[in-house]
Amino acid sequence: MNPALPPPASPLDVLADATAPRWRTAAEFVEARLKAAILEGRLAGGTPLRQEELAERLGVSRMPVREALRQLEAQALVEMSPHRGAVVAEISAADAADLFAIRRALEPAALRLSVPRLTTAQRECAAALITAMDVEPDPGRMGLLNRQFHMALYAAAGHPRLLALVEQHLAAFDRYLRFHLAAQGRERMAQEDHRAMLEAAGAGRADTAAAVLEGHIDHAAAAIAAFFSARPARRP
Ligand code: NI
Repeated sequence: MNPALPPPASPLDVLADATAPRWRTAAEFVEARLKAAILEGRLAGGTPLRQEELAERLGVSRMPVREALRQLEAQALVEMSPHRGAVVAEISAADAADLFAIRRALEPAALRLSVPRLTTAQRECAAALITAMDVEPDPGRMGLLNRQFHMALYAAAGHPRLLALVEQHLAAFDRYLRFHLAAQGRERMAQEDHRAMLEAAGAGRADTAAAVLEGHIDHAAAAIAAFFSARPARRP
């Protein structure tokens, strides 16, 4: 690149200033660089991620860029639009609060319906997922295990439309969980709440289980709201 002719200012300039550890593959390098910029708020939601431009700026070919974008899409950090191509997913305090309000309305209702009909196999499945979360080091996997645990507890609710809505919003919430975990380091996933919910459910105490769940959701909502308010505001 000719130093006398710097490229025009672009939101992707933020990718240039990180120090680079060693990566096993070019795709991993691209993924890590983009992920950090998105999670730290240096790349705003809606920023287009054009393959050629990324490949050029990061000094790689287009193939690893394509692979990295696919990985980030699976993590809900990038959205693929048929018209605009890949763009940075919108993550905001307001969107997080919206999702929490939906979870707060739906999940206790699903849990109350499920508890009286929960089978031993479903309880054992939930217990195994708590154990798996205790030892899971990867924040992305943690989000999946958390979702599976919650769905295992609601599984006997017998209302497929309600459960589909619950699952859809738990999955959408995943990006905030990753966001939160990746930015704050590994944290305990409120496992005491998970254990208390399972115990109450096993004893057939639906009201107790629902009350723990409401506190569990409120606690996560407060932690993420605090995270957003502590994050320095950035202008794209
Ligand atoms: Ni949970």
